[in-house]
Amino acid sequence: MTAQNPIRVWDPLIRLFHWSLVAAFTVAYITEDDFMTLHVYAGYVIVGLVLFRLIWGVIGSRHARFSDFVFGPATVVAYLKDLLLHRARRYIGHNPAGGAMILALLGSLLLTTLTGLAAYGAEGGGPLASTVLASGVFEDIHEFFANFTLLLVTIHIAAVIAISLLHGENLIRAMITGRKPG
Ligand code: HEM
Repeated sequence: MTAQNPIRVWDPLIRLFHWSLVAAFTVAYITEDDFMTLHVYAGYVIVGLVLFRLIWGVIGSRHARFSDFVFGPATVVAYLKDLLLHRARRYIGHNPAGGAMILALLGSLLLTTLTGLAAYGAEGGGPLASTVLASGVFEDIHEFFANFTLLLVTIHIAAVIAISLLHGENLIRAMITGRKPG
């Protein structure tokens, strides 16, 4: 394969997962106060997407698998140091810091949605209706993780732009087309 030949990196399900998650998270975040029904449905979509991603991380295509992008803490720290020194190597799949960010995003999304379900259940709605007693505490934790996820997303987008500039390749386009330059 020559340097010009594009490589297929992200399979169609990963791309569908990613952009559906962006849409569902945006809807859930902006509807939290005034449009409860839409907010809850967006939350269900997020739970479904995260569960799909956990399964796809085990049985999915090569670069979708956790084994391809989950590295130990020492590798993540070494990569971040190299990044600061502008000498980080290029990865075809997710780089070690990106892999750590994906785990953080999926974990934070799961905690946000599960505490959301508990808070909604305490108010008599959803699958946990009347099985949860105290709603206030779940509401607070739910809000905390929603904002924490937003913080992670902000860092995620900044990192995607920074690494795209560093390697002179458009990672956002790659998440749309599925392909990267060889
Ligand atoms: C418009 C905003 C966003 C852009 C431009 C963007 C862009 C990207 C890009 C380019 C990648 C691939 C990174 C790489 O090459 O290693 C990626 C991966 C990822 N992003 Fe985003 N992202 C956005 C918003 C979000 C949001 C809101 C979430 C979650 C709430 C999110 C979660 C993820 C996850 C989980 C992955 C890993 C994909 C996978 O392997 O399943 N992103 N994003």
